[in-house]
Amino acid sequence: MTAETIRSLTNEEISLIRKEFPVLQQKIYGKPLVYFDNAATAQKPDAVIKSLTEFYSEYNSNIHRGVHFLSQKASDAYEQVREKVRNFIHAESESEVVFTRGTTESINLVAQSFGKAFVTEGDEVIISAMEHHSNIVPWQMMCEERKAVLRVIPINEKGELLTDELEKTLNSKTKIISVVHISNSLGTVNPVKKLIAQAHRREVPVLIDAAQSIAHEQIDVNDLDCDFMAFSSHKMLGPTGVGVLYAKRKWLEALPPYQGGGDMISGVSFEKTTYNEIPFRFEAGTQNIADVIAFGTSIDYLQSLDRKRLLFYEHQLLSYATERIKEVEGIRIIGTASEKSGILSFLIKGGNAMDIGMYLDTQGIAVRTGHHCTQPVMNFFKIPGTIRASFLFYNTISEIDIFIEALKKAARLFHKK
Ligand code: ALA
Repeated sequence: MTAETIRSLTNEEISLIRKEFPVLQQKIYGKPLVYFDNAATAQKPDAVIKSLTEFYSEYNSNIHRGVHFLSQKASDAYEQVREKVRNFIHAESESEVVFTRGTTESINLVAQSFGKAFVTEGDEVIISAMEHHSNIVPWQMMCEERKAVLRVIPINEKGELLTDELEKTLNSKTKIISVVHISNSLGTVNPVKKLIAQAHRREVPVLIDAAQSIAHEQIDVNDLDCDFMAFSSHKMLGPTGVGVLYAKRKWLEALPPYQGGGDMISGVSFEKTTYNEIPFRFEAGTQNIADVIAFGTSIDYLQSLDRKRLLFYEHQLLSYATERIKEVEGIRIIGTASEKSGILSFLIKGGNAMDIGMYLDTQGIAVRTGHHCTQPVMNFFKIPGTIRASFLFYNTISEIDIFIEALKKAARLFHKK
């Protein structure tokens, strides 16, 4: 990707984009909000908020069940989002798209169903040392139940995955690998395509946790050839409470249902229940209809922008912030991988991350502090947590300048040599 071939966003374009996000228009403690907590959740454009209101005020109804007009309309709108997701990630078929409550539920679904179907005593599951708790705990729970072993690919001091270790860890007992695309606490972009190819040479399926990458990278599940992918709507400008499990058809057809209930069946008697076809077999009970529909609007919104240019601009924001933060006394960046996405985790020597986060808050700057649900990463770096600034395309260079000046003040207050 070069500056010659891709034009960055202009100031006019950024300001037009920003106008579409009501939350960004406000002041916090009298100061313009600088929202740098996008890795936790992204803000929502007007169109997404409107889509929620429209559903509840115009066609609130349950789906797949009613013959009446409203139910048909809601069912159509809901199913259209499945097609939008398919198109967004380049899946082969809509039936490979399962709606869940979010990344966490998607991973739990695979861990439980895959575990039941394919994992027995002594088998092995591989994850990496930079996983979010949601890509650790479900596998631990399953391994405990099935008496299987959880193996971990280590990282180096830059926060990069030691990919060569995967080859040493893979063996005939390996049943599945689950690995994060972009680390939420380090910003590392993992070479997932290479890892998938490596695993497939041994016929081991791979789940990609795309929670942090889906809003930034242009994902093509066909090109990656991943077996499963999990992500959430709320990190891609959509509502909370909705996510996706993408799975290759052959896997969805082979996995037992995750939860039982209405809509996931084709017939029920006290003697025997038969299950609905995929993907409905994995969507038990009344779904989060309004939020799925609004999620579709967030996909439309993202698709209406030139995503290559957004990504290029986000890289510029990260590079600029990474350079300028070095002006802050006592700074230590955690996560210095050569391939990084818009996440800057850091500490100020001697300063407590929470104190610094609270100071930034008084300046109207929203960041996240703590272990970011990646305690093993923090243990690796022997720190309790970091301060994390995470960027999205509606952020600006001048917001980074405000952030750096505030950090310099924080360093004067909290830095101890
Ligand atoms: N996983 C989200 C984060 O990194 C919540 O903040």
